[in-house]
Amino acid sequence: MAEMCAERIVEMNFETVILTGGDPLCKRFKNETYILIRALKSCNLKVIINTSAAGMNKKDVEMILSLGVDRVDVSIDSYNPDIHNFNRGCYAEAVYAIEKLAELGNVAVATTTVVTKENAPSLMRTIAWLYSLGVQDVRIQRAFIPNEKADDTELIQNEMRSAVNFLAKPHISQYIDLTECMWQGQVPPTSAQCLMGKKYFVCDNDGVITPCFHRQDIVLGNLFFDSLDFLEISLGKNNLTNEVIPQCLGRQCVSLFDNMYFWKEGL
Ligand SMILES: C[S@@+](CC[C@H](N)C(=O)[O-])C[C@H]1O[C@@H](n2cnc3c(N)ncnc32)[C@H](O)[C@@H]1O
Repeated sequence: MAEMCAERIVEMNFETVILTGGDPLCKRFKNETYILIRALKSCNLKVIINTSAAGMNKKDVEMILSLGVDRVDVSIDSYNPDIHNFNRGCYAEAVYAIEKLAELGNVAVATTTVVTKENAPSLMRTIAWLYSLGVQDVRIQRAFIPNEKADDTELIQNEMRSAVNFLAKPHISQYIDLTECMWQGQVPPTSAQCLMGKKYFVCDNDGVITPCFHRQDIVLGNLFFDSLDFLEISLGKNNLTNEVIPQCLGRQCVSLFDNMYFWKEGL
C-alpha cells in the first residue's frame, strides 16, 4: 500500500509530501509512518514531518536520519518547560529531538511556536534559545483557539511584530498583517494568496483528497481508487482553483499561512 501510494503521488507530479496530523510520530503509528516514508523516499519524493516530538527517542532520531527525511518541523511553544507543558506537554522529548536532529545533521530542523497569551511575553527569548539549539528555521504562528477572547489578540500580535527581525523568512511581516486582518474579520491584502487546493492538497489515511484541512466538504477524489485522468481533472478544476483569496479564508486559516509556499511566489 505504501509503495502504491508513493507511486501515485509521483504519477500526479507532486514533489513533496508533508506528513502531519494528529501526529505522524505518535507511539502507536510511528512504525507505519516509517514504512510510508521509506516508500516515499524510494520514489525520490521530498518528505517533511510535522511533529510534537512527544515520545521521540534515540531510535526515532536515528530512523529519521537513516530514512533521509528532508525536514522535521517540531512544535515547541517555549524555552520554559512549564509554559510549553501547559500548552502541549512532553517538553523534554521535544527538546531532545530538536537538539539531536540538529547535532547529527543531514536533515533540516525547523520549529513552529504557536503564539498564545501564555508564551507571547517571552517569545523573543524562546526564539533566541531555539537558534542556540541549532534550529535553522524558527517559525511562529498565530494560535487558533476557538472562542478565544478578543483581548488576547493585541498582546499576541504585538509580540509577533517585535519578533519579525529575528526570523529568517521574508514573508513573516505579511503573514502577521494577514492574521491580523483575518482575526478582525477584514478583507485580506491582495498580496496574500492561498495555494491550498491549487498547488497543495490534503490527503487523509483513506486516500481522500480535499483542497484544504478546513474544506473537507470539497472531496476531489481518492488517491487509491480513482484513475489518474480523473484526479488530474478534478484537482485542476476544483472550485478553489480560480480564487486567489478563496471566500472561505477565515481565522482558522492562520495555521496554513506559516509556510512561505502558501504565499505568492517570490514574496
Ligand atoms: C495540528 S499540528 C499537527 C502536527 C503535530 N502534531 C504537531 O504538533 O506539530 C500542525 C501544525 O499546527 C500547529 N498548531 C497546533 N495547534 C495550533 C493552534 N491552536 N493554532 C495554530 N496552530 C496550531 C502545530 O504547531 C503544527 O505546526
